[in-house]
Amino acid sequence: MQNKLTKTEHYSPSEDTIFFANYIEDEKGNNALDIGTGSGYLAQVLLTNFNHVVATDTNYNSIKKAHAVIDDCVCCNAADALHIDFDLVICNMPYLPSDEIVDATVDGLHEGLEVPFRIIKSAKNVLKKNGKMIFLTSSLANYEKLLKQTESLGFHVKIVATKKIFFEELILVEAIN
Ligand SMILES: C[S@@+](CC[C@H](N)C(=O)[O-])C[C@H]1O[C@@H](n2cnc3c(N)ncnc32)[C@H](O)[C@@H]1O
Repeated sequence: MQNKLTKTEHYSPSEDTIFFANYIEDEKGNNALDIGTGSGYLAQVLLTNFNHVVATDTNYNSIKKAHAVIDDCVCCNAADALHIDFDLVICNMPYLPSDEIVDATVDGLHEGLEVPFRIIKSAKNVLKKNGKMIFLTSSLANYEKLLKQTESLGFHVKIVATKKIFFEELILVEAIN
Protein backbone atom coordinates (compact mmCIF):
# COMPACT_ATOMS: atom_id res chain seq x y z
CA MET A 1 0.00 0.00 0.00
CA GLN A 2 1.44 3.32 -1.08
CA ASN A 3 0.96 5.38 2.07
CA LYS A 4 1.92 2.70 4.56
CA LEU A 5 4.67 3.82 6.92
CA THR A 6 7.57 1.39 6.80
CA LYS A 7 10.54 0.39 8.93
CA THR A 8 12.85 -1.08 6.26
CA GLU A 9 16.44 0.13 5.73
CA HIS A 10 16.90 3.73 4.58
CA TYR A 11 18.12 4.68 1.06
CA SER A 12 21.86 5.42 1.12
CA PRO A 13 23.05 8.42 -0.93
CA SER A 14 23.69 7.24 -4.51
CA GLU A 15 24.59 8.72 -7.91
CA ASP A 16 21.10 10.19 -8.27
CA THR A 17 21.44 11.83 -4.84
CA ILE A 18 24.75 13.47 -5.79
CA PHE A 19 23.38 14.64 -9.16
CA PHE A 20 20.43 16.22 -7.34
CA ALA A 21 22.65 17.71 -4.60
CA ASN A 22 24.91 19.44 -7.14
CA TYR A 23 21.89 21.04 -8.79
CA ILE A 24 20.31 22.44 -5.60
CA GLU A 25 23.42 23.73 -3.84
CA ASP A 26 22.79 27.35 -4.97
CA GLU A 27 19.04 27.38 -4.22
CA LYS A 28 18.16 30.05 -1.61
CA GLY A 29 15.12 31.09 0.39
CA ASN A 30 13.46 31.10 3.78
CA ASN A 31 12.09 27.58 4.08
CA ALA A 32 12.40 24.31 2.18
CA LEU A 33 10.97 20.81 2.34
CA ASP A 34 12.70 17.57 1.32
CA ILE A 35 10.11 14.85 0.63
CA GLY A 36 11.46 11.29 0.83
CA THR A 37 14.57 12.45 2.63
CA GLY A 38 16.20 9.01 3.10
CA SER A 39 19.47 9.67 4.94
CA GLY A 40 18.76 13.42 5.00
CA TYR A 41 21.61 14.13 2.56
CA LEU A 42 19.66 16.54 0.31
CA ALA A 43 17.98 18.24 3.25
CA GLN A 44 21.43 18.90 4.70
CA VAL A 45 22.52 20.56 1.43
CA LEU A 46 19.48 22.86 1.69
CA LEU A 47 20.44 23.88 5.23
CA THR A 48 23.33 25.96 3.83
CA ASN A 49 21.02 28.51 2.16
CA PHE A 50 17.62 28.14 3.87
CA ASN A 51 16.67 29.31 7.38
CA HIS A 52 14.32 26.40 7.98
CA VAL A 53 14.41 22.90 6.44
CA VAL A 54 11.82 20.18 7.01
CA ALA A 55 12.28 16.55 5.91
CA THR A 56 9.62 13.86 5.49
CA ASP A 57 9.72 10.15 4.70
CA THR A 58 7.36 7.21 5.06
CA ASN A 59 10.27 5.11 6.28
CA TYR A 60 10.71 5.41 10.04
CA ASN A 61 14.35 4.31 9.94
CA SER A 62 15.08 7.08 7.41
CA ILE A 63 13.50 9.63 9.71
CA LYS A 64 15.61 8.42 12.65
CA LYS A 65 18.76 8.65 10.49
CA ALA A 66 17.88 12.06 9.02
CA HIS A 67 17.13 13.42 12.49
CA ALA A 68 20.86 13.32 13.22
CA VAL A 69 21.30 16.18 10.72
CA ILE A 70 17.84 17.80 10.43
CA ASP A 71 15.83 19.00 13.46
CA ASP A 72 12.42 18.94 11.79
CA CYS A 73 11.78 15.43 10.50
CA VAL A 74 8.29 14.04 10.06
CA CYS A 75 7.34 10.43 9.29
CA CYS A 76 4.40 10.86 6.90
CA ASN A 77 3.24 10.49 3.31
CA ALA A 78 4.77 13.26 1.13
CA ALA A 79 3.70 16.62 2.68
CA ASP A 80 0.35 15.42 4.00
CA ALA A 81 1.05 16.18 7.69
CA LEU A 82 2.36 19.70 7.06
CA HIS A 83 0.43 22.97 7.25
CA ILE A 84 3.04 25.59 6.39
CA ASP A 85 3.93 27.02 2.97
CA PHE A 86 7.42 26.53 1.52
CA ASP A 87 9.57 28.46 -0.95
CA LEU A 88 11.05 25.23 -2.26
CA VAL A 89 10.02 21.57 -2.19
CA ILE A 90 12.39 18.89 -3.49
CA CYS A 91 11.91 15.16 -4.01
CA ASN A 92 14.21 12.44 -5.33
CA MET A 93 11.25 10.29 -6.35
CA PRO A 94 10.74 6.53 -6.33
CA TYR A 95 10.26 6.34 -10.11
CA LEU A 96 10.65 2.74 -11.31
CA PRO A 97 7.58 1.29 -13.07
CA SER A 98 6.12 -1.48 -10.88
CA ASP A 99 2.89 -3.40 -10.30
CA GLU A 100 3.13 -3.01 -6.55
CA ILE A 101 5.35 -1.36 -3.98
CA VAL A 102 7.83 -3.94 -2.81
CA ASP A 103 10.66 -1.45 -2.26
CA ALA A 104 9.27 2.01 -1.40
CA THR A 105 12.64 3.66 -2.10
CA VAL A 106 12.36 2.95 -5.85
CA ASP A 107 8.93 1.54 -6.82
CA GLY A 108 6.73 4.17 -8.46
CA LEU A 109 3.79 1.96 -9.58
CA HIS A 110 2.13 2.26 -13.04
CA GLU A 111 4.61 3.68 -15.64
CA GLY A 112 6.66 5.02 -12.71
CA LEU A 113 4.08 7.80 -12.43
CA GLU A 114 1.57 6.95 -9.78
CA VAL A 115 3.67 7.51 -6.66
CA PRO A 116 5.45 10.59 -8.11
CA PHE A 117 2.15 12.21 -9.12
CA ARG A 118 0.66 11.64 -5.65
CA ILE A 119 3.76 13.25 -4.14
CA ILE A 120 3.56 16.24 -6.53
CA LYS A 121 -0.13 16.77 -5.66
CA SER A 122 0.70 16.71 -1.96
CA ALA A 123 3.62 19.12 -2.49
CA LYS A 124 1.36 21.57 -4.36
CA ASN A 125 -0.67 22.02 -1.15
CA VAL A 126 2.36 23.34 0.76
CA LEU A 127 4.03 25.51 -1.90
CA LYS A 128 3.89 29.30 -1.80
CA LYS A 129 2.56 31.15 -4.86
CA ASN A 130 5.52 31.22 -7.27
CA GLY A 131 7.23 28.63 -5.07
CA LYS A 132 9.31 25.97 -6.78
CA MET A 133 9.30 22.19 -6.74
CA ILE A 134 12.35 20.31 -8.03
CA PHE A 135 11.98 16.58 -8.54
CA LEU A 136 13.93 13.75 -10.09
CA THR A 137 12.50 11.24 -12.55
CA SER A 138 14.06 9.04 -15.23
CA SER A 139 13.88 7.81 -18.81
CA LEU A 140 12.76 4.48 -17.28
CA ALA A 141 9.50 6.17 -16.25
CA ASN A 142 6.94 7.75 -18.58
CA TYR A 143 8.40 11.12 -17.64
CA GLU A 144 6.76 13.02 -20.51
CA LYS A 145 3.34 12.03 -19.17
CA LEU A 146 4.43 13.02 -15.66
CA LEU A 147 5.39 16.48 -16.94
CA LYS A 148 1.98 16.86 -18.59
CA GLN A 149 0.21 15.69 -15.41
CA THR A 150 2.25 18.20 -13.39
CA GLU A 151 1.29 20.99 -15.80
CA SER A 152 -2.35 20.00 -15.41
CA LEU A 153 -2.07 21.00 -11.73
CA GLY A 154 -1.16 24.54 -12.80
CA PHE A 155 2.63 24.28 -12.59
CA HIS A 156 4.99 25.75 -15.21
CA VAL A 157 7.32 22.83 -15.88
CA LYS A 158 10.75 22.43 -17.49
CA ILE A 159 13.55 19.88 -17.57
CA VAL A 160 16.62 21.60 -16.10
CA ALA A 161 19.30 18.90 -16.09
CA THR A 162 19.88 15.33 -17.31
CA LYS A 163 22.54 12.72 -16.65
CA LYS A 164 23.15 9.37 -18.31
CA ILE A 165 23.90 6.48 -15.97
CA PHE A 166 24.04 2.80 -16.94
CA PHE A 167 20.84 2.09 -18.93
CA GLU A 168 18.88 5.19 -18.03
CA GLU A 169 18.90 8.96 -18.03
CA LEU A 170 18.22 10.83 -14.82
CA ILE A 171 15.94 13.82 -15.38
CA LEU A 172 15.65 16.81 -13.05
CA VAL A 173 12.47 18.84 -13.37
CA GLU A 174 11.60 22.30 -12.05
CA ALA A 175 7.92 23.06 -11.54
CA ILE A 176 6.93 26.63 -10.64
CA ASN A 177 3.64 26.99 -8.77
C1 LIG B 1 15.07 7.38 -4.19
S1 LIG B 1 14.94 7.49 -2.43
C2 LIG B 1 15.73 9.08 -2.18
C3 LIG B 1 16.32 9.26 -0.79
C4 LIG B 1 17.09 10.57 -0.59
N1 LIG B 1 16.25 11.74 -0.79
C5 LIG B 1 18.26 10.63 -1.54
O1 LIG B 1 18.21 11.44 -2.48
O2 LIG B 1 19.23 9.90 -1.32
C6 LIG B 1 13.18 7.82 -2.21
C7 LIG B 1 12.77 8.07 -0.76
O3 LIG B 1 11.38 8.41 -0.75
C8 LIG B 1 10.74 7.75 0.34
N2 LIG B 1 9.32 7.67 -0.02
C9 LIG B 1 8.72 6.83 -0.89
N3 LIG B 1 7.41 7.10 -1.00
C10 LIG B 1 7.18 8.17 -0.18
C11 LIG B 1 6.03 8.93 0.13
N4 LIG B 1 4.83 8.66 -0.41
N5 LIG B 1 6.14 9.95 1.02
C12 LIG B 1 7.35 10.23 1.59
N6 LIG B 1 8.47 9.54 1.33
C13 LIG B 1 8.40 8.54 0.45
C14 LIG B 1 11.47 6.42 0.46
O4 LIG B 1 11.32 5.85 1.73
C15 LIG B 1 12.92 6.88 0.16
O5 LIG B 1 13.57 7.28 1.35
